[in-house]
Parts: sequence; C-alpha cells; structure tokens
Amino acid sequence: MKAFTLSLLAGTALAYPGMSGNAPPGEHHAGIFKAIIERAGERHMEAEVEWLKKRSLLYPRQAPPPGGPPPAKVVLIGDLQEAGTGGTAVNDAIMGCFRNQNGTTCETFEEYTPPKKDTQSCEKDTCCIWSYIKDDLVPLFTECDGTCNDIARATVRFGFHDAGAWHQNLTHGGADGSLLLDPEEVKRPANAGLDRARNALLPVWKKYKGYGISAADLVQFAHNVAVTTCPLGPRTLTYIGRPDWKPEDGPNQDGLLPDANDLADNLINLFANKTIQSIDLVALIGAHTAGKQRFFDTTQANKPFDSTPGVWDVAFYSDLVADRTPEGTFHLPSDGKFSARVNGTRNAFLAMANGFPTDNSAGQIQWNGLYSKGYVRLSLLGVQKIQSLTDCTKVLPVPVKTFSGPRALAPTCKSIDYVVPDVPDETTGGNGTVSGGKNGTIFAPSAAAGPSKTPGSTESPTSISSTVPAQATTNAAGPSRVLGGGLLSLMAAVLAFAL
Ligand code: HEM
Repeated sequence: MKAFTLSLLAGTALAYPGMSGNAPPGEHHAGIFKAIIERAGERHMEAEVEWLKKRSLLYPRQAPPPGGPPPAKVVLIGDLQEAGTGGTAVNDAIMGCFRNQNGTTCETFEEYTPPKKDTQSCEKDTCCIWSYIKDDLVPLFTECDGTCNDIARATVRFGFHDAGAWHQNLTHGGADGSLLLDPEEVKRPANAGLDRARNALLPVWKKYKGYGISAADLVQFAHNVAVTTCPLGPRTLTYIGRPDWKPEDGPNQDGLLPDANDLADNLINLFANKTIQSIDLVALIGAHTAGKQRFFDTTQANKPFDSTPGVWDVAFYSDLVADRTPEGTFHLPSDGKFSARVNGTRNAFLAMANGFPTDNSAGQIQWNGLYSKGYVRLSLLGVQKIQSLTDCTKVLPVPVKTFSGPRALAPTCKSIDYVVPDVPDETTGGNGTVSGGKNGTIFAPSAAAGPSKTPGSTESPTSISSTVPAQATTNAAGPSRVLGGGLLSLMAAVLAFAL
C-alpha cells in the first residue's frame, strides 16, 4: 500500500528559487511529501488510495464496477456533432478533444511563420493577423524574470468571466466579448479587479478591430496566450470566428459566476449547467496556480494562491491536498472544499498533484491536458456556429516546457508594476495608452508595432533551461513522456470513475 502511495505522490525533485519559501528543493519536496503522509491518517487517505487503486487497476475502463458511476457523458454545445458523422474538420478535432480522457489532443504544437502584415497574403490567412496580436500580447503578459505577470493572470480570469457567464438555457452570453465591449459588465461585483485586464486589452482591440477581428475572439485568444506565457502552461486549441455581443441585445445576465463562499455541491451544479463536469472544473480552477486575490479578502490583498504565481505548475494542487498554506499565500474556501471532498473532487486534486515538483511530472502533464480540455469547452460556450470556426492554435507562443527558475535579473530588467490606467472606453474614444510603473516604465501596446520584445529581454535567458521542441512534446519522445503516458491512462481511468 505504502509503495503505491509513494509512487502516486512522489516525483523527482526539481525546483526553482522561490518555489516554496526558502526551502531547498529536496527539503521542499520531502516537506510536502511528509505533510501528505502525515495527513493521510487523519483523512483516511490510505483507504482513498486503495479505492483509487481498485477502480483503476482491477477494473478496466470499459467495465466499471457494478454500481459505479457511468462514464462521463460528453455534452454537445453549439452545432457540434459526433466526430465522423459528416461535420467539419474543426468539429472532429473539438469532439476528439472532448472525448479524449486525458486531454492530450486538446493541445497542439504546430509552428507558424505569418506572411508580412498588411499584405494580401496576410489578409487571406485568418490566422495571420492573430500572430501580430500575439506579438503585442506576449510582452504585456511577461515579467522580466520570464514568469507571467499580473496582467496575464487577470487576463486568464477575464477569459473565464466572459465565457463563463452563461448557462445552457440561455440564447445570449458566453464567449461573446461582452466583458470587453460592455463598460457596465466589468463593474459588477463578481468582476472586481478585472478592469485591469480590460484596460490592457482595450488598446489592443482598438488597434486591431479594423482588421475585422471580434472582441469575443480577442478575449479568448488573450487567455490562451497568457496561459502559454506562464512557464509550463499548455498550448490550448484556439479558435477564431466568434460573433460579438451587441449593445442592442442589452446587458448579459448577471449572477452566473461562482461565489468562493458557496458549497462545493452548488458550485458543481453551477458549472454542470454550463456543461462543465466536475473533473473539468477541478482542472480549470487550477488556473489559480497563476492567480492572486485582491478583493475577496481585502485584509490579505495581493496574496497569491501558491508560492509561484508566475509559473503554471501544480503547486496549487499539492499545497491543497497536503492542507498546507505556505507563508504569504492564500486559499479560497471553495478551493479548500474541492480538495477535501473525499471520493469526489479530491481524487482529481491528488491526480494533478502527482509527482510535484518536477516540471514533467505525470500530474503536470495530466493537468495541462485536462485544463486545455476544460478551457476549449469554456471558450466556446454560447457560440452557435462552432463548426465553421478556424483553428489558429499555431500562432500561440512556443510553450516553455521546462523552467528552472526566474532569469537572473539584468540591470535593465525592471519589474513592470502595472497600475490600472485611465483608458477611455472605446465608446468615449481616447488614445488607449497603457502606462504603468513605479520604475517609470511606459508601455504602449497601441504603439508596439511588429514583433515585440519582452520587457527587459535584451538579456539572454539564463535560467529558462530549455524549450522542448514541438515534435518531442507531441510524439512522446522523451522518457518522461512515456512515463507520463502510462500514468496518464491510469489516472484518466481513475478520474472517469471518481467524478
Ligand atoms: C468555483 C470556481 C471559482 C471560484 C469560486 C473562483 C473565485 C475566485 C476569486 C474569489 C478570485 C480572487 C479575485 C480577487 O479577489 O481579486 C479568483 C481569482 C482568479 N481566478 Fe478564480 N474562481 C473560480 C474558477 C476559476 C476558473 C475556472 C478560472 C480560469 C479558467 C479562474 C481563474 C482565476 C484567476 C487566474 C484568478 C487570479 C486573478 C488575478 O490574479 O488577477 N478561476 N477566483
């Protein structure tokens, strides 16, 4: 039993400075591990792991144990239809992603060099202009130490709050760009703090709307770029072609976003009404790994949800399953409730935490796939004509697959301290300049023409150890991938039964 517990929870130590306070990597890992084992008695984890083991090893995926929950149902949205029934290639790719148990087909690593901007070739290629938008977004989202910054985390939440304000009986709402376009929506209490992301995105919208892009696409595209900008973040399938919210349709319905004080069951139901199942929900709230809170508890404003908010790692999950709150971090009550829901969402937390803190741990690979799977669905909520969208995933930045620590800060590399700038709404006009910085840094995306540079990127990266080539990550080239693949199938089966 112990050996299984060990193999489920342990991983090779790899750490980066600041990953967990001041503890050296080995100690940090041992600490987490010890804490998990210590909690085991109290939370009957041995029994839980035994349960997981039975479900995954004794019963094959196709033959659930008598009385067990049925395999998760794939709920169709928009005009999606089963793959292989005459739909478009986009339909089949999305359905392949939704049906894939561990989400590995919901990320792609194809590379792309766009035609020159403002040429006919660029105009003819839907994805071309998005490549230039990406070039403007990456420096907005990147901290000078190579991690993702406050604007990136706010943009990730912005994407969720635009798309997630929807349920399956509504004919309006969802991923329609209303959070960017309707100046009133962002003022709702549930959206507190998102003015930061909106003010960063509005100038980009103004700069590119003349190219025929939709705000709805920009919001979801920016989310996916922001996630990829965080080291270890997945490169999620990214679709273009959503229609925009129209002012004449009136404000979108309020009250559809989660309350962190709510009961876990209520939250699960809220997301089920958005066609998002509990496994997807657990994967999606993992975005808190890159998040901070400012308004939920104003007495602890700016505390991150784990000790590495600039990295898309699984520390969020491992902290919560070990019931530990590293100094300076903060846990939302809802996240605590999900992680403690034995024989339910806790199993998914355990699977995601598996192997932390290696960047290529099974948990990380598992989570990246499942996050992408959940987010592809989320990013399409409320979109009617999904089949005719265009896949532009290839324009996303090349993901940073391993990360050994923030770059040594060059003297010229100053952290950008963004303030919420006064960006006049497009309805009121204005120049759309985003400025910020206790260091006097001024960054104006509307003026950032051509491929932009990461602020401070004049120095060569010293600690971003390597970026796994696309081929290697898609084709299971490395031993870690092989290991991950084996464990993935096992965990996918576990999760399917667990939730
Ligand atoms: C049960 C579901 C969820 C609840 C109750 C919840 C609640 C919250 C709360 C209260 C905050 C802090 C806001 C503040 O005080 O500044 C927050 C932040 C955040 N949330 Fe969630 N959330 C949920 C799901 C999600 C999902 C599905 C995503 C993404 C797909 C997400 C992404 C984020 C991010 C990135 C932040 C940090 C924002 C920043 O640092 O500016 N959340 N969430």
